[in-house]
Amino acid sequence: MARILTGIQSTGTPHLGNLLGAIIPAIELSRDPKNESFFFIADLHSFTTIRDPKLIRENTYATAAAWLSFGFDTEKNLFYRQSDVSEVCELNWYLNCFAPFNRLKLAHSFKEKSDRTNDVNAGLFTYPVLMAADILLYDANIVPVGKDQLQHLEITRDIASRINHIYPGTLILPEVKVDENVMLIPGTDGQKMSKSYNNIIDIFLSEKKLRKQIMGIKTDSIPIEKPKNPDRCNVFKIYKLLSSKEQSEKLKAKYIGGNFGYGEAKKELFNLVCKKYKNEREKYNYFIENKEILDLELSKGAKKARKIAIQVLSRVRSNIGY
Ligand code: ADP
Ligand code: TRP
Repeated sequence: MARILTGIQSTGTPHLGNLLGAIIPAIELSRDPKNESFFFIADLHSFTTIRDPKLIRENTYATAAAWLSFGFDTEKNLFYRQSDVSEVCELNWYLNCFAPFNRLKLAHSFKEKSDRTNDVNAGLFTYPVLMAADILLYDANIVPVGKDQLQHLEITRDIASRINHIYPGTLILPEVKVDENVMLIPGTDGQKMSKSYNNIIDIFLSEKKLRKQIMGIKTDSIPIEKPKNPDRCNVFKIYKLLSSKEQSEKLKAKYIGGNFGYGEAKKELFNLVCKKYKNEREKYNYFIENKEILDLELSKGAKKARKIAIQVLSRVRSNIGY
């Protein structure tokens, strides 16, 4: 059985790009009986940039509610909040003492983040070390990540090898899994959908707000009566990703036929999103209104995670001389 582990940054409600590009594929992977998945909310990492306690808490709930509403099975797998397993901070220290300063200095995520903020703190600098602790604390075998995280995984393997070199058999070196074929979901302006670009579709919003987001998708100004090219339209691109072939062919014909405006296309997309994600939207709202269920799920996960963390940490301590 392979132990698959990945962290989810809690920086807001997951949007359609996060869902189609990361959450749904990860849940699919976790359904394989040969795998045991450890998915956790990386709220300690969020603390490198978020200073508002209310936001830290709300982001965790929004992230948890999204994963659970899409059916992540917390009986078979582990779902927990990073900050609930404080053993990770102790391991982080040991790893810090092995993390090459010059290697951390070269990490492009640090360079990119430190260019964007005045608050260049040491937590931001050692971000990849905490990530290494997240992974090594659970003897993870496989870590699925996006391409942007590849360098962090190389740092993880580097630190683990350095420790194993002096204290043989202390840590398990994880394999990285980068999905090259991950779909890139376009946002309301046609660029990659991202919180940073203000172009997201949040499927968990109320109908009124969701309609407004979808109505705000950028389109060109070809008049209603003229035929339109669906493949160049942001509305159609998103519609196609969510619909059946039959549905998208039908909409395509309307674009090509003329006398069909973008407003109509947006309404069709709105109806499709509401229908397709009816259950998930209901469940999400139920979880947000009943946060004690989320707390219960997360504490159940933390209990299971701590059991493993304590064992691995005691192996590390004993090997290094504590
Ligand atoms: P954001 O760009 O909104 O800050 P993150 O960087 O937090 O999103 O991404 C979290 C996960 O969602 C990553 O695995 C990333 O690859 C995936 N993801 C984010 N945006 C998209 C998108 N537009 N299309 C596909 N996957 C995406
Ligand atoms: N840094 C990752 C991201 O931004 C999130 C993360 C934290 C993570 N710890 C991890 C991913 C451990 C994989 C393994 O997406």
